[in-house]
Amino acid sequence: MNQAEAAHSLVLELKRLRSEGVRDLYVEEESLAALEDSLRRNFGDPSSSSSTPGPTAPVSTAVSGNDRPKPKPSQVQSPLEDPSIHIPDPTPFSIPEGSKKERLDWLREKIVGCPTCNSELNPGGHVVFGTGNPEADLFLCGEAPGAEEEQQGVPFVGPAGELLNRILDAMNLPRDEVYIGNIMNWRPRHDQSFGNRPPTPREMNFCMPYLKAQLEVVSPKVVVALGKTATDGLLGPDPTRRLGDVRGKWHEFQDIPMMVTYHPSYLLHNPSKASKRKVWEDMLLVMKRLELPISDKQMGFFR
Ligand code: URA
Ligand code: URA
Repeated sequence: MNQAEAAHSLVLELKRLRSEGVRDLYVEEESLAALEDSLRRNFGDPSSSSSTPGPTAPVSTAVSGNDRPKPKPSQVQSPLEDPSIHIPDPTPFSIPEGSKKERLDWLREKIVGCPTCNSELNPGGHVVFGTGNPEADLFLCGEAPGAEEEQQGVPFVGPAGELLNRILDAMNLPRDEVYIGNIMNWRPRHDQSFGNRPPTPREMNFCMPYLKAQLEVVSPKVVVALGKTATDGLLGPDPTRRLGDVRGKWHEFQDIPMMVTYHPSYLLHNPSKASKRKVWEDMLLVMKRLELPISDKQMGFFR
């Protein structure tokens, strides 16, 4: 697909979303930067010439096209408006002494009863706490529950979870031997009927003590950050960080060795052999670190 075709597809997709009633759109910072870069190369830099169309011209035509009356400004939510402005600061707590299992049970009860978490749920939804072995050597951290996770109250049970299960299978690690958690304990609310919104810094800040407490109790040998949100949550946000640069390398979260890799849902959207191999190479590094046996067959997956 060349850039003109890509721009055309984008316009069609925006129109389709609008026809379905979508009024707000969340775009990853990285995607926005790539789009801006591509438009600038095609249409020039708006700051260098006032006669060339600005980089947002084609997109804004698509969003507020003239085949429909323009919505009044009050109907449009500014992308700069924080949808989580009402989320409070977290309240400090300490976990009673006990076995790892007892301490996790106490934490689960606390989080499942957390009033802020509960106030964010969609109808029929559940607060989602981590799952797995309290004695796990490997702790996998995702972003936030999606629709399936919210309904079942269990992390990674939707399409991304199925892919995560296949990755664990390939590592010869049963899912109930590892621990799986998320940055968020609820599914970030948004007005669309489908898709997920990445959590805001305020939402992440509220839930981080709950994730840190799970990490402290489990105290795994290795933590894997799945995707950008988990990486930003665990390493602290850094606008210059690109996942492609930090994945496949060892980092540290509170003295625990931490591997960064792509999120399974990124693989679902980019199912090339090359992306699968990258994630697999990251998992091979994790297996080595955990001193798990690695067969020649496993070495060669996705090559
Ligand atoms: N994606 C995540 O990051 N976490 C889940 O629990 C499900 C999907
Ligand atoms: N960008 C993300 O936000 N997540 C990924 O997993 C890969 C790229």
